[in-house]
Amino acid sequence: MTDNNKIATLTVNGETYELPMYSPTAGPDVIDIRKLYAQAGVFTYDPGFTSTAACDSTITFIDGDKGELLHRGYPIDQLAGKSHYLEVCYLLLYGELPTVDELEDFESRVTHHTMVHEQMMNFFRGFRRDAHPMAIITGVIGAMSAFYHDSLDINDEWQREVASIRMIAKMPTIVAMAFKYTVGQPFVYPRNDLDYASNFLRMCFSVPCEEYEVNPILARAMDRIFTLHADHEQNASTSTVRLASSSGANPFACIAAGVACLWGPAHGGANQACLEMLREIGTVDRIPEFIARAKDRDDPFRLMGFGHRVYKNTDPRATVLKQSADEVLELLGVEDNELLQVAKELEKVALNDPYFIEKKLFPNVDFYSGIILEAMGFPTSMFTPIFALSRTVGWISQWKEMIADPQLKIGRPRQLYHGETNRNYTDIETR
Ligand code: SDX
Repeated sequence: MTDNNKIATLTVNGETYELPMYSPTAGPDVIDIRKLYAQAGVFTYDPGFTSTAACDSTITFIDGDKGELLHRGYPIDQLAGKSHYLEVCYLLLYGELPTVDELEDFESRVTHHTMVHEQMMNFFRGFRRDAHPMAIITGVIGAMSAFYHDSLDINDEWQREVASIRMIAKMPTIVAMAFKYTVGQPFVYPRNDLDYASNFLRMCFSVPCEEYEVNPILARAMDRIFTLHADHEQNASTSTVRLASSSGANPFACIAAGVACLWGPAHGGANQACLEMLREIGTVDRIPEFIARAKDRDDPFRLMGFGHRVYKNTDPRATVLKQSADEVLELLGVEDNELLQVAKELEKVALNDPYFIEKKLFPNVDFYSGIILEAMGFPTSMFTPIFALSRTVGWISQWKEMIADPQLKIGRPRQLYHGETNRNYTDIETR
């Protein structure tokens, strides 16, 4: 962030104020309004934060007009094609791609933290078997602060590091346990001789009565899905983690808050909602009916997996997932997947419709991911937990960046109040 001596001039009630401006290395300039209320006695008003930079960061940058996503400067399509999830985790956490030794050490630290405290299994047993896995993981992750007391002190850099590794390492185990619990199968322990994605697939799909061989194609597809969901600037769930962390809450409680926020269908819950929508559409000939509903202002229906606050061009993650969907389904021998045909035709119709063109609505990361996950054997209820697993490194990286910021202040927005002004209580007899 460079102080480029640019000044914004604002006139309020006849008074003129000069506000400093800063230029980023990429993206729009910002106007520093931190002293505005003290100087001019007014607030800015931006519900939904459509024009607000809530922090400065060096981790991820999105150019919505170009449809570009960079993690520490590296384009997502290169990372998805040439890297792998734990290497991307290292990049997000520490800022640079690792050397061979650094990666080996990092992968070993993650691998040796994949088990959860045995007592945590009791948490799962308190849930109904038909609980949504997101309900389970929100509870279990928050409960981690009751177990890992030696990594709660956010002011201790070493404890922050341990909490980071524990979260990244244990999320696949917890998410797999939530899946096993809901399908009534025994939990499967992680294995240290498997890579991150293979370990997760085995914890989800192996059963005690037979050996489970991980399909390397599925493991590669799983790892790519993890990478594509790893981080995404200041999205709703990451902003939730930052706001929760600004009070000094412990990392496990803050990540649990992020999981809860991600669950919403407007955010990470869209992958489940999108697949359910594709299933409701059912066949290509019903697409016009749903396009009409999406355009009808009186109908709350929206095309799930479409649109984005930042991307006003294609979401580059959707492009990679679309290619991956073709590859995975072909390799799995899933011929003529009806849902994929509906999704491709829906995308084609929408992208040629004036409404979607004018509003710059394109498929986002949630549009194709569900088709791949379903083909891999996951129920729709597991789509958002897998998103949460993938995004844990993003939440943790942003959390570490914020906690290390000497300017850290508790987040405390103000409001535009138009409720009742001061009035006296009246006794019930007189009302
Ligand atoms: C994720 O922020 C992130 O980075 C999130 C994410 C990440 O990696 O963390 O990328 C992950 O959450 C992706 C988004 C998943 N959500 C969905 O697919 C749900 C469907 N999409 C929408 O609900 C919506 O597009 C949002 C929530 C994604 C974005 O909403 P905005 O930016 O607040 O935009 P908006 O609601 O103001 O919409 C602008 C216009 C509106 O029409 P008007 O009121 O101007 O007439 O576009 C319309 C909307 O009605 N619109 C849609 C639409 N999305 C927006 N119309 C039909 N279908 C849609 N999907």
